[in-house]
Amino acid sequence: MLKSEVVKYDIIKESVVLYVEDDKDVSGIIVSSIDSLCKKIYVAANGQEGLDIYTEHQDEIDIVITDLNMPKLSGIEMISRIRDINYDVPIVITSAFGDETMLKKVINLSVDGFVAKPLIIHDLLKIIERTLKPVFYKKELRKKDTLIFQQSKLAAIGEMIGNIAHQWRQPLNSIGVTMMKLEFNSENDNLTREVVKDIIDNTNAIVGHMSKTIDDFRNFFSPNKEKSKFKIRDSIESILALMIPQLINNNIEIKVIGDQDIEIFGYKNELKQVLINIISNAKDAIINNKNISNGLIEINIKPQKDYLKIAIKDNAGGVPQDLIDKIFEPYFTTKFKSQGTGLGLYMSKVIIEKNMKGSLYIENDDNGAIFNITLPL
Ligand SMILES: Nc1ncnc2c1ncn2[C@@H]1O[C@H](COP(=O)(O)OP(=O)(O)OP(=O)(O)O)[C@@H](O)[C@H]1O
Ligand SMILES: [Mg+2]
Repeated sequence: MLKSEVVKYDIIKESVVLYVEDDKDVSGIIVSSIDSLCKKIYVAANGQEGLDIYTEHQDEIDIVITDLNMPKLSGIEMISRIRDINYDVPIVITSAFGDETMLKKVINLSVDGFVAKPLIIHDLLKIIERTLKPVFYKKELRKKDTLIFQQSKLAAIGEMIGNIAHQWRQPLNSIGVTMMKLEFNSENDNLTREVVKDIIDNTNAIVGHMSKTIDDFRNFFSPNKEKSKFKIRDSIESILALMIPQLINNNIEIKVIGDQDIEIFGYKNELKQVLINIISNAKDAIINNKNISNGLIEINIKPQKDYLKIAIKDNAGGVPQDLIDKIFEPYFTTKFKSQGTGLGLYMSKVIIEKNMKGSLYIENDDNGAIFNITLPL
């Protein structure tokens, strides 16, 4: 080695070494030179001690450096027993003799390096560093992979919780409104059997929908969810049951025009989520526009040649022209933090366009916004 050559033992620094040598003088010199360079060093005076230490600290030890000719248990015997425990741990041999049969045995035990005695400490260190390199990088990669995996799992869980929370906002509002109705009727001594039954049925339907939402999102992430044939009516009626209390409460009328018996093939519950998102947005826009006293939302079902168009139109004044390109972006919202996450239209677009191979777009007319959904028939 040239004097000017600066060798860095970065990997040894991070490693735990088991050093097995029966010659006390050799062992003393090697240990005193390696000790400060590695993370930790275990020292054994013969093969048996080496095997015992390895067995006890196998999870910790990164490399074994061993003599061959030793009392009690020979180096070869010890290596073969260590290989039974761990076939991968790097092993470097330091030995004075190298006859052919010994060499064969050593090779058959997949030894990683050989340093001849008398030992030159830098040669030994270089071989240790070289031997540890691939192991070390593999370990680092594994650490990184686990981290990325955990992060992506957390992100997916977070996204799923966010989505569920988003879809629960409407039904929670509906339950709130239903409870107000209960309170109002109770205070006015008007709790007839019919009113109570009505409230119970309504609340049950909403709770059922909420628990369905969880299942839907589980399925959303599962690759083998199934498409089915269903009537538009099935989707529309169940979401109206959910939303009508709030719409009435805000003096908003909702009309369904066109043939609801048309069948389509796709994800029924996901289409429901989309309709709820769009109708909730229309409701919010109507409430926010102080100039409107009578809100109106129209769902228009228009079969075309080979696709179905569902247009949802409101009278809240429309989306300002400079925002039209942004509203489908994730997290774009003009609402207060507590009222909007900006995920509704983004999710809707993913469901309609990616999952159901249709399209979702917006246009404004004189009175308000029209959200058009097209679905292949
Ligand atoms: N019918 C509509 N009329 C006017 N503006 C609308 C209408 N629908 C959507 N927007 C605008 O588009 C924005 C994005 O809608 P989106 O549903 O993605 O998010 P959000 O309603 O703000 O929040 P949330 O995630 O709770 O749905 C809204 O904040 C609103 O500014
Ligand atoms: Mg929304």
